Amino acid sequence: MLNDGRGSHTVNETFRKKDGTAIPVEYWSHPIQRDGELVGGVVTFLDISQRAMLERQLLQAQKLEGIGVLAGGIAHDFNNLLTAIIGGAEIALNDIAPGSKGAKAIHGVMDAATRAADLTRQILAFSRKQVLSIKELNLNDEVLSQTKMLRRLISEDIKFQVKLTPEELCIKADAGQLQQVLLNLAVNARDAMSPGGTLTIETGTVMLQRSDRWLEEGMPPGRYAVISVSDTGMGMDEDTKSRIFEPFFTTKGPGEGTGLGLSTVHGVVKQHQGSISVYSEPGKGTTFRIYLPRVERIEAAQAAPEAAPIPRGKGKILVVEDEKAVRDFLESALQDNGYSVTSVGSGPEAIEACAGTTFDLMVSDVVMPGMSGPQLYQAIRERQPKLRVMFISGYPAKSVSLQDILEWDAPFLAKPFSASTLLAKTHELMQSTAPAGHAP
Ligand SMILES: Nc1ncnc2c1ncn2[C@@H]1O[C@H](COP(=O)(O)OP(=O)(O)OP(=O)(O)O)[C@@H](O)[C@H]1O
Ligand SMILES: [Mg+2]
Repeated sequence: MLNDGRGSHTVNETFRKKDGTAIPVEYWSHPIQRDGELVGGVVTFLDISQRAMLERQLLQAQKLEGIGVLAGGIAHDFNNLLTAIIGGAEIALNDIAPGSKGAKAIHGVMDAATRAADLTRQILAFSRKQVLSIKELNLNDEVLSQTKMLRRLISEDIKFQVKLTPEELCIKADAGQLQQVLLNLAVNARDAMSPGGTLTIETGTVMLQRSDRWLEEGMPPGRYAVISVSDTGMGMDEDTKSRIFEPFFTTKGPGEGTGLGLSTVHGVVKQHQGSISVYSEPGKGTTFRIYLPRVERIEAAQAAPEAAPIPRGKGKILVVEDEKAVRDFLESALQDNGYSVTSVGSGPEAIEACAGTTFDLMVSDVVMPGMSGPQLYQAIRERQPKLRVMFISGYPAKSVSLQDILEWDAPFLAKPFSASTLLAKTHELMQSTAPAGHAP
């Protein structure tokens, strides 16, 4: 190129360093001419490994996002069906002689449906669309409370050590999700270590500076709690490492792994505004590190309320749900417990029902065709300011309406839920005088 007097631009070519490692390079060449004669040239080389890495990360993020949207949609429909299945089975059980063949079969249905609900929860976790129950908690306490369960999970030939920092590590997290994260990482470590090795769970703290490479992933600088899970197992090569967070990626045989473990972990960590890193070498073992933002300190002890038997209810309830199976379940569960129930399938029908009757509580789906639950509630509340509300949803998407209720803290039940959960929440709401929360 330089010889014929023109310049050139090459976008991406792989060069080799002295030690043989490859670097992607972009370069420009410009000829220098005097009196039409070529007397030299300038070639500028730019190391673009950083840019190439960011491009790869973006592509990966987009791929995960796409799968998440798809899976989130399926999970929504699934949750509707499971609500009907679990609820229907529960009601049927009340009508059948305990210990009979029929009762046993129905217990089987409930067990299977509950397992399906767990699976749906996992899918929602990696698509980062589930509703979390966030509390302030001490990371060390959480780890400690899990160790017994984890010990039972891993085999005898694995040495298990837990090293907790003496510092109090306050974070805001969903304890159940945190447990899921530890569980998945520990099971992976166990699977990577046959025959035997050492599993180490460690907590610590780190200050991330503006210049730290973590900031690339949008982590604000500040104080973070770190939890690391290390094993001395078989480790991973680069190829495996680059795909581990993809849903359904597994190197395990059929029936041994679904490939959902780490994508769940990734989703949960991201939903907690955290970050996860992996260090691994074939034959040397693997360390996962999770960084979670720290909060100052835990304000007051949050004692768990004792579960009391649910008393029979009285009052008028309006049920609004477009899915017939779920509507039927809500109606019969509430009616069986003594409430008087009117149930309708859409917002406009609900408004019509309210014209003639004053209700104590409205139980409404969030996402319905035509008019959303929150929109409906706003419309009715002008005429019935004392109306209490409970929203239910199996819809995981960050839909505007779902975010609205979460923002103003309206009572909410995530599908699938059981009849007893529904009745407990209903009872609690009926006891309260003013409607909880404020309309958006
Ligand atoms: N600690 C580890 N050591 C070595 N390889 C690991 C480790 N953790 C994960 N991997 C690799 O990452 C893959 C994906 O892990 P992930 O937990 O997502 O799915 P899985 O364990 O295969 O199946 P599942 O967790 O759904 O039962 C594993 O199949 C394995 O190849
Ligand atoms: Mg796994």
